[in-house]
Amino acid sequence: MLVALFAGDGIGPEIMVEARRVLDALELDDLRYEEGLVGGAAYKAKGHPLPPETLDLAQRADAILFGAVGDFDCDGLERHLRPEQAILGLRKALTLFSNLRPAKVFPELADASALKPEVASAIDLLIVRELNGDVYFGEKGMRTTADGLREGYDVMSYNEAEVRRIAHSAFKAAQARRGKLCSVDKANVLETSQLWRDVVIEVSADYPDVELSHMYVDNAAMQLVRNPGQFDVIVTGNLFGDILSDQASMCVGSIGMLASASLDANGKGLYEPIHGSAPDIAGQGKANPMAMILSAAMMLRFSLGKAEAADRIEAAVAKALSQGARGADLGGSMITREIGDAVLAALA
Ligand code: IPM
Ligand code: MG
Repeated sequence: MLVALFAGDGIGPEIMVEARRVLDALELDDLRYEEGLVGGAAYKAKGHPLPPETLDLAQRADAILFGAVGDFDCDGLERHLRPEQAILGLRKALTLFSNLRPAKVFPELADASALKPEVASAIDLLIVRELNGDVYFGEKGMRTTADGLREGYDVMSYNEAEVRRIAHSAFKAAQARRGKLCSVDKANVLETSQLWRDVVIEVSADYPDVELSHMYVDNAAMQLVRNPGQFDVIVTGNLFGDILSDQASMCVGSIGMLASASLDANGKGLYEPIHGSAPDIAGQGKANPMAMILSAAMMLRFSLGKAEAADRIEAAVAKALSQGARGADLGGSMITREIGDAVLAALA
C-alpha cells in the first residue's frame, strides 16, 4: 500500500520526520512511502501550492499523511496561490467530506488543560466536521458598493445532499461510540443552518438508536468549556467545525495533541494534526510532534487496516506522556526530537 507524505510548511517537516521514524519503527513491510510538495514549499519550488504531480500522488495513494501548510511569505499572494489552497484543494479534489476530530483527555494531561482538571478529565468527544462545502467553498470575492466602499463577500451554502452524507457519517460514528449526537448550527439566524437542521432530523429516522440533540454554535462554544463531558459526537459545518475543534484542543491540553482524519465515502483518507504550520516557532525544536504521530495512528486504523499498529502508537504516546515527555506547549522543556525519541522508546 502506498502512503503519500506531504510535510508542507513551517513545523510540518520537523513533525513529519518524527511521525516517519515512528512508522519505520513499526516495520510494516507492506507500506511504501512517497513524498510530495504542498503549500508554500510547493509554491516556491513549482509555482503552485498543489502542483499536478502532488495531486496525482494523492490520487494514487491509499492514504495521505499531511503536516501543515501556511507561510507568512505567501500571505500577499493571490488567494488561489496561497498555501492553504493545498489542503482545501486536496479535500475538494478527493471528496474528503468527513473530518473526524477526536478530543480526549490523556489522564496525564488533565492539569495542562485550560479548564479545571475535574472538568477536563470528562472530555471524550468527537467532532465530525463537514469539509467540502459551506462558506469555505462558496462564491467569494471583492467588489465595490454603490457608495464606493470596498466590500468582501463569501457565500455560505449547503445543499441537502451535502448535509445528508455528513449526517450519515456522524450518526454512524455515534453508533460506534456512546450513541449521542449533537448537531451544531445557527438555525436561529442562518437559512443554511435551517436546512442543515431539517436534513439532520430527516436522516435521524434511520438511526433510532442514536439520541439526537441540536445546539446553536454560540451555546456550543460556551458548553465546551462549561461542561464538555456532556458531548459524545458533535456534527457541524465546515466553518463552525474549524473553530470548535481548535477550542476543543485547548480543553484537552494543547493543540499539539489533536489528530484528525478526513475521509471520502470509501474510507480513503488524509490524516493531519488539527494545528497549523506555526511559522513563528518553525525550526526551533519547539513543535510537539504528538498530533502528527497520532495522525499516523489514525491513518493506520482507518485507511490501512492496521488497528494493532495504531494501538501500539497510541499506547506509546500515552506512555511517553506518563513518563513526562512534554514540550513547551505542555509546560515541559523537551524539544521535538526528544519527544519523538520518548515515543520511540515507549514503543520498543
Ligand atoms: C484546519 C485549518 C484549515 C481550515 C486551514 C489551514 C485552511 O485551520 O484544518 O482546521 O480552515 O480548515
Ligand atoms: Mg483550523
